[in-house]
Amino acid sequence: MKLAIGSDHAGFELKEAIKAYLDEQGQSYQDLGTYSTSSCDYPDFGLAVAEAVASGEYTLGILVCGTGIGMSIVANKVPGIRAALCGDTFSAHASREHNDANILVLGARVVGLGLALDIVRTWLAATPQGGRHAQRREKITAIEHKYGRNNNAARN
Ligand code: RB5
Repeated sequence: MKLAIGSDHAGFELKEAIKAYLDEQGQSYQDLGTYSTSSCDYPDFGLAVAEAVASGEYTLGILVCGTGIGMSIVANKVPGIRAALCGDTFSAHASREHNDANILVLGARVVGLGLALDIVRTWLAATPQGGRHAQRREKITAIEHKYGRNNNAARN
């Protein structure tokens, strides 16, 4: 499993803590920035991780900003991305099992460090389920196609 991780300045410190946790677990990852607490724009880093996952170069991604909301909005604009903002471990495993979320989003100003790392552990350990959940995910993909870049009919 190839993992990409990114944040803005507000998520930088939590991103570093997640990296330390992943190192402890022997889980490799690629950090796509930001690389300091200097103010930056979350769409730049959200897009980098979302495109890295959508292209298939990476299997899963983790994004962190202050609330998690900006990164969620950005990542979910990229076709093929199902980004889940999680503030609890139930949502974390359900987002993998039911939604096959391929990006986990965390709000560094919302969740404490211990909970954030529990969410990461839970999310990475969960497995997408098939059956009715897969059928529902196909409906998500159909929506993407309906409103896709090349489908002008959907905008008329
Ligand atoms: C940065 O101040 C903050 O707006 C950003 O990290 C995020 O919370 C946006 O949704």
